[in-house]
Amino acid sequence: MNRERRATWEQRHREATRGEPEPSLIEMMPLLPPGTVLDIAAGTGRNSIALARAGWRVVAADFSVTGLRALASIADREDLKIVAVVADLEGTFPFRPKAFDVILNISYLDRALIPQLKSALRPGGAIFFDTFLIDEADQAGHGHLRNTRFTLDHYELRTLLDGLELLRYREGLVVYPTGKRAWRATALARRRN
Ligand SMILES: C[S@@+](CC[C@H](N)C(=O)[O-])C[C@H]1O[C@@H](n2cnc3c(N)ncnc32)[C@H](O)[C@@H]1O
Repeated sequence: MNRERRATWEQRHREATRGEPEPSLIEMMPLLPPGTVLDIAAGTGRNSIALARAGWRVVAADFSVTGLRALASIADREDLKIVAVVADLEGTFPFRPKAFDVILNISYLDRALIPQLKSALRPGGAIFFDTFLIDEADQAGHGHLRNTRFTLDHYELRTLLDGLELLRYREGLVVYPTGKRAWRATALARRRN
């Protein structure tokens, strides 16, 4: 079922360079608890690497072998504490309850996964969620983002994170240092118990 999408991502990761970590993650890094991070749909690891360089242990999961190989080669070279796990998040990833201090969900949206992400947080642990808004689908020309399955409705993320303590939340147009622009929602939310 995911074979075609996976092949598309393998190709994208073969062609693209890693890029800088998401600026909102860098901004909110001081608010994240220390410990072990799960980076879901980690890609080539721009965000995993930033957190590992800052001292977190990271489990990076993605279904792209190409992406994770690129990530693992940096981790080896810099002796970073990153474990790369090849897994289809729609199927085989073994989420364990209360296993992670931080979960990163960046530029990826699978609404069905969110209850498992909440349960995989330790009490006091935090999820950092940052992905595209529906306004991005309206721009078209962005491949899969034309499909609203992969973009958030306005204020939807706030509802999806129900039951967690919302520490930060915003939606809007992000203008990156490169000049690239994207409509995104950003949230940092903590599990109380
Ligand atoms: C837009 S990239 C984001 C990568 C990374 N989070 C970042 O911010 O740079 C989306 C990632 O989701 C991964 N992906 C898509 N569907 C997936 C699935 N069902 N299971 C695991 N990974 C998936 C792709 O391989 C790709 O690396």
